[in-house]
Amino acid sequence: MNLPAKYREIILGGSEPGEAYQKCMKTLTADGGEIDYELTETIVYATEARYATEILANGRPQRFWNFGDLEGGADERHYRILDGIEHLDIAFVGSGPYPVSAFLIKTRYPTARITCIDNHIAAHILAKAVIAKLGMDIVTRFEDAIDVDYRPFNAVVVAAMVSGKRDLIEKILETSDATVIVRGRVNLNHERLIQLGSTFRDDGSFGANTS
Ligand SMILES: C[S@@+](CC[C@H](N)C(=O)[O-])C[C@H]1O[C@@H](n2cnc3c(N)ncnc32)[C@H](O)[C@@H]1O
Repeated sequence: MNLPAKYREIILGGSEPGEAYQKCMKTLTADGGEIDYELTETIVYATEARYATEILANGRPQRFWNFGDLEGGADERHYRILDGIEHLDIAFVGSGPYPVSAFLIKTRYPTARITCIDNHIAAHILAKAVIAKLGMDIVTRFEDAIDVDYRPFNAVVVAAMVSGKRDLIEKILETSDATVIVRGRVNLNHERLIQLGSTFRDDGSFGANTS
């Protein structure tokens, strides 16, 4: 799709990728903050593809920055939950071309098994290549989230941009014993479900006025 000029200038203007992403989100919020999945994906993929290709060219960065955490503290909120689970076997759903959350989690829990799942072929191929370049022990799977068998996992993290989160989470809770962390709100209550605030809607698009 065509990136509107305003975002094109930010993303391709030479800023550090995560900073460019945050500028896009601030611009969007200032403009009223409702965009569809296609534009959301274009902005996120522009950011993640830039990070991924940078690592493929130059190796490990000085730090992994969770650029999507606009309000801060998201990593610690994940750790407070994951710290309590022994023998972590995590499915990371919607890992993207640059699965920075998986990298941060693997860095904190080096013995954890992590499986990155994405239904976008470019995300899958880039993530697999970046993981190999970093020499990290992380599995990648090209699959739609709803088709995955979640029984082997004891924790599932669902990214904000994943579509159809409500049906997906119902399936995970019904078919596995996993603790589920979802970035975003779904209309469900369950003792094993933790919902973290997010500016993304259930269809995975950005919505600044979402809780
Ligand atoms: C861009 S990522 C964001 C995650 C971010 N890289 C991180 O580490 O926190 C969101 C990904 O979710 C994927 N996705 C959206 N809906 C999905 C679904 N139903 N099944 C699998 N992947 C999905 C998209 O293809 C996209 O790559």
